[in-house]
Order: sequence, then C-alpha cells, then structure tokens
Amino acid sequence: MQQEITQYYTDIADEYDKSRFSHTYGQYIHAQELRIFNKQKLSLPCLSLGCGTGRMMEFASIGADISEAMLKVAKYKYPHKEFICCDAIQTPFSPASFQSVFCLHLFMHLEVNKGINIIKEIHRILPKGGLFLFDFPSSYRRNFLKQSSKNWHAATHYSLEFLQEKLSSEWQIKSYTGVLFFPVHRLPAWLSRIVLPIDNWLCKSFLRKYASYLMVVLEKK
Ligand SMILES: C[S@@+](CC[C@H](N)C(=O)[O-])C[C@H]1O[C@@H](n2cnc3c(N)ncnc32)[C@H](O)[C@@H]1O
Repeated sequence: MQQEITQYYTDIADEYDKSRFSHTYGQYIHAQELRIFNKQKLSLPCLSLGCGTGRMMEFASIGADISEAMLKVAKYKYPHKEFICCDAIQTPFSPASFQSVFCLHLFMHLEVNKGINIIKEIHRILPKGGLFLFDFPSSYRRNFLKQSSKNWHAATHYSLEFLQEKLSSEWQIKSYTGVLFFPVHRLPAWLSRIVLPIDNWLCKSFLRKYASYLMVVLEKK
C-alpha cells in the first residue's frame, strides 16, 4: 500500500497545492491549522515529517517526505530550507535531534500499525519533553456518522482512548483541538460569517472530539 500512496503523491506533486489548497475548503482547513500552529509555538529545531510540498515549512527547520517529486516542489518554494527523502518509519536522524516534530495529513492515509511505528520513530528523535503535533480524522465523528472510505485515502481514524492505550507508557497527550465541525466552506459567504465563530468555538469546546479532524499534541515522557 505504501508504494501506491507514494506513487499517488508523486503523480500529483505539481498540482498538489492548487488542487488541495486553492479552493474554499482547503483555505478554510489551512487557516484553522495555522491558528493552532501559531498558538502552539513549536520549539526549534523542528521537523516536518511527510512535509509534501512544504506547507507550514515556516514553522520547521527541516522537511522530510517519501516522494522526491513532492520534495522538488517544496525545495523550489523554500530554497534555503533543508529537505530529506525518507520513509517516516525509519528516518536518518540521530536520537533526540529535534525539539519538536509535526506531521500533517499523513496518518489518515497509513495503516494503523504503520502510524504507531512512525510515532515510535518520532519518540526516538525527540528528547524528553519534546512535542509531536499531528492530525487525523476523528473516530468519534466517523463512528457517529457511520462514515467509511473506499480505499486508503483518508481511511484511517483514531480515538484518544486508542492512542492512550497504545502510547501512554512513552507519551502524554498534552492537548487536542478539533478542526472543522460544519461544512463552513460550502455555505454562502453571509452565512459562513455567522457559522464560522460557532465552528471555531465548538472546535475548542468539550464537543471538540466530534470535529472532522483532531489535531493532537503529544509530549515525550
Ligand atoms: C496529504 S500529503 C500532506 C503533505 C503536507 N504535510 C501537507 O499537509 O500539505 C501526504 C504526504 O505524505 C507523504 N508520505 C506518504 N507516506 C509517507 C511515509 N511513509 N513517509 C514519509 N512521507 C510519506 C506523501 O508523499 C505526501 O507528500
């Protein structure tokens, strides 16, 4: 499956930014994630793992991705940053070489076992107290709405309890935020102006685990 995923992103590398982030949905998701990044303030050196074409590279010191084609676009956009081609499950970095790592829109595509093993690799390259920020579709919402995927694309979702069970000996869940409650991007502009603050509030409220995506910060114990 990994080969299929890598090939998929290699094939769409040149259109990735336009196809994912030039329309209202992509812009809305990006704006929501940017707010979380600005609030979280990840310490440097910071690694963007599965960096793709370099989204949020302004927060990272180094980007790594499995697709050379995605990295080519990232290098063009950020000529002064360093990029490395590798599988996130086995990176070339020394133990504790970063203060923080983030991984956006990746875990949703990978099998759960691979995701958990990537988190083990991230544990190796962070020091005690280092932070790992990542996102994934919410199991609470998927189960509530009985949603499922036809193929690997955005098929994998996680619950906080599952992460807790798998990771609690090595990580602490420091915080989590929801991303996207209502299809705000599909509403007429006048209505989305009214719904947007409600969506933002819900994504931080006690109901946030029912948002479409969860953005979780783990702290290495
Ligand atoms: C949906 S894109 C996300 C890119 C970027 N993080 C963003 O949010 O725009 C997923 C990226 O993960 C990369 N990828 C897939 N499997 C990977 C793996 N095992 N190790 C490293 N990168 C991987 C793909 O090549 C692709 O660039």
